[in-house]
Amino acid sequence: MASSKRALITGVSEGGMGDALAVELMDRYGYMMPILDSDLQKIKLNFDVNVFGMIAVTQAFFPMLRISRGILVNQCSIAGLMASYQPFINSYQASKSAAVKFSGALRVELRPFGVKVVTLITGAVDTPLWQNTEGARVGIPANSRYLPIKDRVEAMMTGQSNPAGLTPAREWAKGVVADLLKTNPPIHIRRGYLSITMWIVNWLMPWWMMDWLFTQSSGTGTLQKLL
Ligand SMILES: NC(=O)c1ccc[n+]([C@@H]2O[C@H](COP(=O)([O-])OP(=O)(O)OC[C@H]3O[C@@H](n4cnc5c(N)ncnc54)[C@H](OP(=O)(O)O)[C@@H]3O)[C@@H](O)[C@H]2O)c1
Repeated sequence: MASSKRALITGVSEGGMGDALAVELMDRYGYMMPILDSDLQKIKLNFDVNVFGMIAVTQAFFPMLRISRGILVNQCSIAGLMASYQPFINSYQASKSAAVKFSGALRVELRPFGVKVVTLITGAVDTPLWQNTEGARVGIPANSRYLPIKDRVEAMMTGQSNPAGLTPAREWAKGVVADLLKTNPPIHIRRGYLSITMWIVNWLMPWWMMDWLFTQSSGTGTLQKLL
């Protein structure tokens, strides 16, 4: 059986040394990397946090939610939409797609028990998400097949090639709370920069155009010419 090491760190206020130690020791999720360069275990961690964690929490808290006839609110993302298939952040997006599907079917499964399920299709919000991802810390490996377009790939892995604009986290939270407190909360809450735009793109943009856009922005078109 594989052994694991544990550490107890106290005094982890944000910005302090305890916090820095915890961040360094923890296997943080948010793994952005080209699939060919990816470590399978780290991809699994994206799914552990974004999908299996959500399932485990749902199962654990269902009895309480049933008694209170409460609302289960799942944090998903525009990254989970069909049209969000930006290269090099693939496993993160795939885990968010799984979360959107899980949340949708759960809405129907829990309805008989008086429990509502709301899916947050969150757009870009100003948090340390991108700084915390492994892609931002290490970049692509020295033997990556994508070295000729390293700058473009790493810009995608670190969110630098995303359209500029972020909704402040408090503003996002205010909107979400206002939606949730309605007598009939919407089944999807679209808050955060680009959340509405991506919804429209998802319905209207032809796939050939999405492929073209992602090929241009990721540098894979340039790589194809070089090979
Ligand atoms: N920021 C955006 O633009 C955006 C857009 C759409 C959706 N989202 C989603 O919103 C959620 C929160 O992200 P955020 O933007 O607030 O970024 P964040 O500040 O980096 O928060 C990420 C959260 O994940 C937790 N986490 C990291 N690794 C973990 C692990 N291995 N096990 C358990 N928990 C772990 C962190 O916990 P600790 O703080 O305790 O380490 C932290 O609370 C995520 O699901 C993200 O995908 C964000």
